[in-house]
Amino acid sequence: MADYLLAIDQGTTSSRAILFDRDGHVIRVAQREFPQHFPHDGWVEHDPEDIWDTVLSTCREAVETSGVALDEIAGVGITNQRETTLLWDRATGKPLYNAIVWQDRRTADFCRELQERGHAELVQSHTGLLIDPYFSATKLAWLLDNVEGARERAERGELAFGTVDTFLLWRLTGGRVHATDATNASRTMLFDINAQQWDDELLELFEIPSGLLPEVRDSSADFGTVEARWLGAELPIGGVVGDQQAALVGQACFEPGMGKSTYGTGCFMIVNTGDRPARSRNRLLSTVAYRLNGKTTYAMEGSIFVAGAAVQWLRDGLKLFKDAAETEALAKQTRAGHSVYLVPAFTGLGAPHWDPKARGAIFGLTRDTGIAEIVAAGLQAVCYQTRDLQACMSDDMGVPPGTLRVDGGMVANSWLVQFLADMLGVQVDRPTVLETTALGAAYMAGLRFGWYRDLEEIAELWRCERSFMPSMPETERERLYRGWLEAVERVKS
Ligand code: G3P
Repeated sequence: MADYLLAIDQGTTSSRAILFDRDGHVIRVAQREFPQHFPHDGWVEHDPEDIWDTVLSTCREAVETSGVALDEIAGVGITNQRETTLLWDRATGKPLYNAIVWQDRRTADFCRELQERGHAELVQSHTGLLIDPYFSATKLAWLLDNVEGARERAERGELAFGTVDTFLLWRLTGGRVHATDATNASRTMLFDINAQQWDDELLELFEIPSGLLPEVRDSSADFGTVEARWLGAELPIGGVVGDQQAALVGQACFEPGMGKSTYGTGCFMIVNTGDRPARSRNRLLSTVAYRLNGKTTYAMEGSIFVAGAAVQWLRDGLKLFKDAAETEALAKQTRAGHSVYLVPAFTGLGAPHWDPKARGAIFGLTRDTGIAEIVAAGLQAVCYQTRDLQACMSDDMGVPPGTLRVDGGMVANSWLVQFLADMLGVQVDRPTVLETTALGAAYMAGLRFGWYRDLEEIAELWRCERSFMPSMPETERERLYRGWLEAVERVKS
């Protein structure tokens, strides 16, 4: 009997493969980091072969070391870093260029020009997005214009475009499936989230030949079969969902108003808005939460580009510690109420500022500032930014902020989660399974394979490990937050 599912979580800094059982328990995790390439200021690229190799090797490792036989695995679910843009040759499957990562800002001038030409309303009303280099459309346009021969070959139908999910599907199925799901499509800036189809007006605006585009399917659907040569047996792929939406599913936020915040490379707060896209007055995004049986559920999203990436920079760039797990003890050593602020705008600022040319800074250094204060400031920056989003969200939704579910690698740090609860002034719930992103992909595949009747059954599996209650005096919370707002103003372009 097939009692396990393999979830592939292809993230920005690492690929993970996780084996789950029917109750959503983690049976085995394999993870590999891969190199980041920064060829110019604000450019971020991945080698597609690194993405592929790490996905394959982690899948193999997770299965081989789990003691689970291949015929006990019902199938595969895929979740992925979103927006990251690839272009490959349909005949060989070889990419024409590195993957241009969601954080990459190379198209900032093009985006500004599009805004000046008055296209913001068209883009927002059709896609729910704001014109920014973050999304795939301008990255794809850049590839077509800058890789020799790409445009001509695209027009001849020789090339395929995809986000990471699509690239992995292509490779895993031996080029049989060129598809994506509605959540990933909703991040390209080429997809009409109301009509649920590729948008001809936007394809024309960005000069994208429609023959490049994948077919858009539900998040829980038939995505073909992993060829036996990769993992030793054929395995059906039953779910594909962008990683932040996957976390929303893994956190069982299925009712309008329920939200989660995920702390991975970046931080993404998403609130379920039900069967209609809600338009933000505060420069948040409307996006597809998931699409099941042809029915779309929407969400509002605040996207922060740097969260765990700041910890990675403190570790690898400044070499302030060896292991991210040390940050909790370091932060605990700081004097309460210290006023060091680290604004991690390494790749510009995301929501609600959308300033691609802003850059990072540290403020408030004094003679007694040490490693601990700088590390704490890196962690606190993530909490302050979450508060920025929380304020926008609750204004847009017209309701006071409620309990927030959190997940992602960083929330293993209880000091950080307590500071978050203090800064937000609400209860913050940490679930027992922190692999929420992968779990969401497994649930989508599980729905397809008939493991779960519906979302209600999945919601019953969610368990809280610990609730963090705010305990910081109001005056202190506001004093600290004011300092953050001042710091942010100083880094804007
Ligand atoms: O939109 C970018 C997001 O999908 C990246 O997620 O987990 O790699 O930070 P993550």
